[in-house]
Amino acid sequence: MAETDFDVIVIGSGPGGYVAAIRAAQLGLKTACVESRETLGGTCLNVGCIPSKALLHASELYEEAHSGALAKWGVKTSGLELDLGAMHGTRLEAIKGLTGGIEFLFRKNKVEWLKGHARFTAKDAIDVAGKSYKAKHFVIATGSSVTPLPGVEIDHERILDSTSALELDKVPETMVVVGGGVIGLELGSVWRRLGAKVIVVEFLDQILPGMDGEVRKEAAKLFKKQGFEIRTSTKVTGAKSGKKGVKLNVEPAAGGEASTIEADVVLVSIGRRPNTDGLDLARAGLETNKRGQIEVDHDFRTAVDGIYAIGDVTPGPMLAHKAEDEGIAVAEILAGQIGIVNHEVIPSVVYTMPEIAGVGLTEEDAKAAGHEVKVGKFPMMANSRAKTNRESDGFVKIVADAKSDRVLGVWIIASVAGTMIAEAALAMEFGATSEDIAYTCHAHPTHSEAVKEAAMAVTGKPIHI
Ligand code: FAD
Ligand code: NAI
Repeated sequence: MAETDFDVIVIGSGPGGYVAAIRAAQLGLKTACVESRETLGGTCLNVGCIPSKALLHASELYEEAHSGALAKWGVKTSGLELDLGAMHGTRLEAIKGLTGGIEFLFRKNKVEWLKGHARFTAKDAIDVAGKSYKAKHFVIATGSSVTPLPGVEIDHERILDSTSALELDKVPETMVVVGGGVIGLELGSVWRRLGAKVIVVEFLDQILPGMDGEVRKEAAKLFKKQGFEIRTSTKVTGAKSGKKGVKLNVEPAAGGEASTIEADVVLVSIGRRPNTDGLDLARAGLETNKRGQIEVDHDFRTAVDGIYAIGDVTPGPMLAHKAEDEGIAVAEILAGQIGIVNHEVIPSVVYTMPEIAGVGLTEEDAKAAGHEVKVGKFPMMANSRAKTNRESDGFVKIVADAKSDRVLGVWIIASVAGTMIAEAALAMEFGATSEDIAYTCHAHPTHSEAVKEAAMAVTGKPIHI
């Protein structure tokens, strides 16, 4: 095999791409991964999951000290100061450590990193930095970027996308977040905790689309209690950015009187769109769907033989763990094994305080799909650990099929909902009933006992309420 010929070339080194490349190499395939960024790890490690969680953690610590929550535990602070530079330093350290870790794993597994932008020149060949490479199989894992909002052009100074919102060198007095989805609420939380007044402008009548209705309602209540101003059913029609700030034009989504909101900065977080620009897909005989995504079948095959696609560039939730699981599955398929991802059981987590997590169907979707449902709910207020830790906001909600008792969906608002949801995903993966969860011994005192009690509540028998 020529030096420039591979069994597999993966395009993009995000959680989908780097995982696919490592797995393919582990399975004995000669593998390369193309990445145009200076570091590996894609959106998630460089400008997404990791840096946002670093700032969420740091700002949470600051707020605990600043709000007096720590003092309630007898941990008194004086002369409290915010050192934003140090906070960013720790964020960058986390990125450096983890992206460097992927580079180490590439070397360890003999995955060759082709540095540069890949574009197809034929269905079995790409060009990277002026050099041609061939492969038996290509995996497109080019991810996604911010969806622009016409009339609200991102300048990274006053009008920000998620990347520039992670890098602000000063806490803004007022931040308007356009879009009450995951990015808006997570990054809005960071800057609110550090002192900004945050106004969320959401087009729909509720924040957090896709989540269970009761969770959306409760989350909005909690965010308002934390000081967020939330304007739902409102559309942004334009923005004017000046030296002193931004004037944002808004009007009711259904039409009506226009008004202006003034802010230091505006964060545009209305969703993300797939990255296919500059890939020259047509040279490979591929096209995208109306939403710009590359369509794939159950085995991640595109319409062109030998070309596969995974992660954010394909339909489905834009989540790092979904991309990773698809990366493992596609590599296993390429190595002649059976690679499967159960797309019915992909948890999602919003890393605010409290965290908001869900897996499976919402109550509304379960009913719309024709299920007769039984619902069990348990408040975190009645969970001994959450109450002791002064983290009693939220609840666990289990949606089960009324006839079979099979768990259809689990929705959690709790300080550690992101950790708690793993048990729900595992239970659903194994086809558990609510009774199975209710009769599984859960350690005491843990937040997870609330999952057990919610399962007991499905049949009306929780102990602690
Ligand atoms: P990406 O991670 O986007 O990686 C694609 C890579 O391909 C990029 O590095 C890009 O440079 C490269 N590339 C693109 N085109 C080419 C080309 N032609 N040639 C060479 N290289 C190319 N998800 C979660 O699950 N949990 C979270 O907490 C979370 N937090 C997030 C926070 C923020 C602020 C953002 C923006 C996203 C977050 N996400 C989170 C979403 C998550 O980052 C994505 O779902 C995930 O990164 C998708 O992985 P991917 O491999 O499909 O693509
Ligand atoms: P999103 O899809 O989560 O939310 C976008 C919000 O903007 C929606 O509520 C939508 O109704 C609203 N919206 C759309 N157009 C609008 C307009 N013109 N005016 C006002 N509101 C408008 O998208 P977001 O937050 O940008 O995140 C993008 C992706 O990144 C998500 O799909 C998410 O999966 C992923 N992500 C995941 C995280 C996690 O897992 N914790 C964290 C951050 C991002």
